[in-house]
Amino acid sequence: MAEQQQKKGRIVTGMRPTGKLHLGHYLGVLKNMVKLQDEYECFFFVADWHALTTKYNCTENLIEDTKNVVLDWLAAGVDPDKANIYVQSHLPQTAELHIYLSMITPQNWVERDPTLKDLVKMIRNGENDSKPDVSYGFLGYPVLMSADILSFNVDYVPVGIDQVAHIEITRDIARRFNNIYKTELFKEAKPLLTNIPMLKGVDGQKMGKSFHNDIKISDDEETTQKKVMKAITDRSRARKDDPGHPDKCEVAFEYWKAFASDEKIAQVQKECIAGQRGCADCKRELAALINEELRPIRERRKYYEEHPAVVEEIIKKGDAKAQEAAEVVLKEIRKAVGMYH
Ligand code: TRP
Ligand code: SF4
Repeated sequence: MAEQQQKKGRIVTGMRPTGKLHLGHYLGVLKNMVKLQDEYECFFFVADWHALTTKYNCTENLIEDTKNVVLDWLAAGVDPDKANIYVQSHLPQTAELHIYLSMITPQNWVERDPTLKDLVKMIRNGENDSKPDVSYGFLGYPVLMSADILSFNVDYVPVGIDQVAHIEITRDIARRFNNIYKTELFKEAKPLLTNIPMLKGVDGQKMGKSFHNDIKISDDEETTQKKVMKAITDRSRARKDDPGHPDKCEVAFEYWKAFASDEKIAQVQKECIAGQRGCADCKRELAALINEELRPIRERRKYYEEHPAVVEEIIKKGDAKAQEAAEVVLKEIRKAVGMYH
C-alpha cells in the first residue's frame, strides 16, 4: 500500500496477439514496459478480443499467440510481482463496459477514426490473413479500446503514436459519459507516448513477421547470427578495405546504434570509414553483441516455456487482480448509468 502511494498513477496497455515478438517490439515496447512497472501501477494485457475484430475467422493460433506474447513479456523482464499481466477476454467487466459505451458513442465517431480507416484499407488490400470484410465488431474497435482503458479509470495509456487517435476517442467517450450521466467518474486518460525507435528489418523494409525480415526474441543464437549476416550494409562498398559509409549502411549500422554503447558505436564508425572493418566481420561481431544482450532474456523465456504451469498461475493472478480493480470501477458505472445492480 505504501509502495502504491509512491507511484505516479495507474496505467493500462494492451498488445494484440500477433505471434512471437521481434527486436523492434523489444527495443520499443517491452523495454518501456519494464521501466514503467517501477513507476506506475500497471495493467498489461493481451488484446485477444481485438484480434477477433480482424481475424474472427482464423482463430486456430489465438491461444498460442496469446501465450507467446506473455512469454515474451516475462522474458523481457516484465515482473508479475510488479505489474498485472492479464488476458483481455478473461475480464468480463470490459465486455460489460463495452456495451454501455457502445450505446452512448455516436456512429460517426467510430466511422471517422483514422486508425480504423487504415485498418480497413489493409483488410481490403488483403494485407491481413483473414477475409476482407469489415464487421460490426470491427467498427467498435475504438469503443472496445475505450472499455479497456476506462475499466480501470487509468491516468495514462502508454502507446505508440499510431494509437493516439484511439486515446482521443476514449477521452471524448469518457467526457460524453460524464455529461450524459451527470457524473465526474471518468478521468481523461492521457497517452504516455512511447518513443519507439523504428528498427528496420534485415532487408531495410519495416520489420515485421509477414515480411520475413524480423529477428525474434525467441530465435536461437545461430538463427540470429544468420539473419544478422543478411542485414543490408553500405551498398556502394565493393571490397572490404574500401572506406565505408556508416551513414549509408542501411541496416547493420542502425542495429549497432540500437544495441551498442556510445564508445563502441564511435569505434565501429571510425574503423568503417577508415576501411579497417569488413562488413562480414562487422556483422559477425554485431550478431554476437545482440545475442549477448538477449541471452538472459532467452534463458528466462526458456524457463517459462518449460514451466507452463507457472505462466498459467501468473495469468490467473493477473486476471484476478484486474477483475478486482475493474469491478470497483464497474460498480460506479452501473450506478451512474442507472442499471438494476
Ligand atoms: N490497439 C492497440 C494496438 O493495436 C492494442 C490495444 C487494445 C490497446 N486495447 C488497448 C492499447 C488499450 C492500449 C490501451 O496496438
Ligand atoms: Fe556497415 Fe559495418 Fe560494413 Fe561499415 S563495416 S558498412 S558499419 S556493416
